Amino acid sequence: MWHSSFFSISFCFLFFLLPHENNSSSVNAVSVDLVNTTCKQCASKSAIFNYDFCVTSLQAVSISHVTNLQGLAIIAMELALGNATSTISTIEKMMTSGTFDPFAMDCLRDCVDLYADAASMLVSSIAAFLQEYFDAANVLMSAVMEATSTCEDGFTEKEGEVTPLTTENYNLSELSGISLCIINLVVSSELSSMSS
Ligand SMILES: *[C@@H]1O[C@H](CO)[C@@H](O)[C@H](O)[C@H]1NC(C)=O
Ligand SMILES: *[C@@H]1O[C@H](CO)[C@@H](O)[C@H](O)[C@H]1NC(C)=O
Ligand SMILES: *[C@@H]1O[C@H](CO)[C@@H](O)[C@H](O)[C@H]1NC(C)=O
Repeated sequence: MWHSSFFSISFCFLFFLLPHENNSSSVNAVSVDLVNTTCKQCASKSAIFNYDFCVTSLQAVSISHVTNLQGLAIIAMELALGNATSTISTIEKMMTSGTFDPFAMDCLRDCVDLYADAASMLVSSIAAFLQEYFDAANVLMSAVMEATSTCEDGFTEKEGEVTPLTTENYNLSELSGISLCIINLVVSSELSSMSS
């Protein structure tokens, strides 16, 4: 359907398109409002959705730069990609630290694979979203979310085992949930603009 060369092109493009610095003195009330309204809408749809996490994550990046839902969806997916990538290095450090038992080492190996897949699914999801393949983006983001619980569940299969990646799994799961919700909001806003 689409090609990997497209990913790298669109992904490069994103780095120019999107702000990568957080500090801006001019606070744009429109985007603060958009972040708050969007996070509120999403929180009302799901019991596990963390409103404060949503506002904090999106506001840090989007203030004064983003004025629409599409931009917010891309920001959420980029944050998720940044988190997945940095978690891969966290896991690699854990694996070489020599402080984990063989059971935990197996779990960490599974998790590093899951996170590598998650990172590549996130790149694909951003590309799909930009091409308005919203169903594909939706499926990919659900799979990313699923990967975090698979990673977490691995450790809990053995009683008394510490789960060293709980925060990482939680953060990526929330960021995926934010992305999913915004993708669905974009779809419904396009449907309602078509019918009016
Ligand atoms: C947005 O939400 C944050 C946190 O809930 C709050 O501090 C801020 O005043 C809100 N801003 C607007 C414009 O509603
Ligand atoms: C991971 O997500 C958190 C929460 O939104 C954010 O504060 C942080 O900057 C992200 N980390 C990376 C490396 O992208
Ligand atoms: C998780 O997200 C929180 C809130 O943005 C952030 O403070 C924390 O550093 C993140 N932790 C990891 C391990 O990404």
